[in-house]
Amino acid sequence: MTKKIEAIIREERLGDVKQALKDIGIVGMNVVEVHGHGRQGGISLTGRGGSYQVDMLPRVQINIVLSDHNVEKTIDTICKAAASGKIGDGMIFVYPVEEVVRIRTGERGHQALMYPDDIDSRQEGDQGGRPDQHQG
Ligand SMILES: Nc1ncnc2c1ncn2[C@@H]1O[C@H](COP(=O)(O)OP(=O)(O)OP(=O)(O)O)[C@@H](O)[C@H]1O
Ligand SMILES: [Mg+2]
Repeated sequence: MTKKIEAIIREERLGDVKQALKDIGIVGMNVVEVHGHGRQGGISLTGRGGSYQVDMLPRVQINIVLSDHNVEKTIDTICKAAASGKIGDGMIFVYPVEEVVRIRTGERGHQALMYPDDIDSRQEGDQGGRPDQHQG
């Protein structure tokens, strides 16, 4: 099974999160600038003209399409690197993915998600290998 992790984080945490993902062998990803709010509905700022409400706050969305068995480790890594402990640290959403195609080669599914020195290739020497290798 293939999943998509959509992590919405603070802009200033992007560098730390990218490095942490690289450290565990997450290779393919993309990043989008987004604006939004969570349950506080934005923030109240005080300027010279008094206080005003900003409802859509800038955040960075990191998209990663990956194999099911790497989802929890990746979520854990993002949470640790993105957290400040204050409100507004972000959200992570996980979706099922129907298909993946690498355009250059025509590879599909799991084959299209393989990268040199990625999270799975690093585990190939481990006892048991990847969980999905046992599912035929
Ligand atoms: N339900 C949602 N659907 C889509 N995007 C969301 C949702 N909730 C939050 N976001 C996005 O995540 C960003 C960060 O959300 P935020 O961390 O403030 O969530 P929260 O639920 O308010 O948690 P906290 O109480 O820690 O602030 C928002 O700016 C918005 O871009
Ligand atoms: Mg919030």
